[in-house]
Amino acid sequence: MTIENERDLKGLMTIGRICAETMYYMAQHLKPGITTRELDEIGAAYLKKKRARSAPILAYKFPGHTCISVNDEAAHGIPGDRVIQAGDLVNIDVSAEKDGYWGDTGRSFAVPPVSDKAQKLLAATEQALEIAIDAARAGVPINAIGKAVEEHARQHGLEVIRELGGHGIGRGIHEKPSVPHYYNRHARQPLKDGMVITLEPFLSYGDRHIKTMPDGWTLKTKRGGLVAQFEHSIVVTPHRPILLTAV
Ligand code: CO
Ligand code: CO
Repeated sequence: MTIENERDLKGLMTIGRICAETMYYMAQHLKPGITTRELDEIGAAYLKKKRARSAPILAYKFPGHTCISVNDEAAHGIPGDRVIQAGDLVNIDVSAEKDGYWGDTGRSFAVPPVSDKAQKLLAATEQALEIAIDAARAGVPINAIGKAVEEHARQHGLEVIRELGGHGIGRGIHEKPSVPHYYNRHARQPLKDGMVITLEPFLSYGDRHIKTMPDGWTLKTKRGGLVAQFEHSIVVTPHRPILLTAV
């Protein structure tokens, strides 16, 4: 969506903050021995307390309130009996709706002790999100974002997952436009002042592609590479974007 008034901005900031708070609240409980279902229930309780509704359930009938994806799982991991282990890289992605406005945020967390490899991937992916934020300006073609992120990934010996990227958001969870995080020469549409989108680079060791697991939801890297993602919902402006999902 594109923001039209103060009410839009307020509604988006409210749900954005709730998504971020939910994610960090879940992350506080991220310890070896907890199951991904228990983590999801903690998130579900927080969303309920804030009178927000899980976007994956509302929009897609996903079998979980949040998406929890571990190690070579990039996205849409189903909360379940999986027990978190020391050294796991866990992505928590929270998207939700309140009063007709939708928000989406995600972040990969490492469960100590963290390998150097995982630490490097985390740092480079968090930086990739910052680079995407810096590249997103009104008037700039959408593919300027992917160009900057892909260059950064290459400098760090990492790949950008092609099938996953940012998207419009606001009155629904997935709106137009799609925002590739690799350089796509066709994505020349200019970003507009007030446009609401997500930025969410997925970087991996060696994998550009994902495959869907037999459960019909979980997306793993095709060759099993470790993967990380950091995501914010933002409002495009002529200057630095407004971050909707910062706490
Ligand atoms: Co997300
Ligand atoms: Co998203």
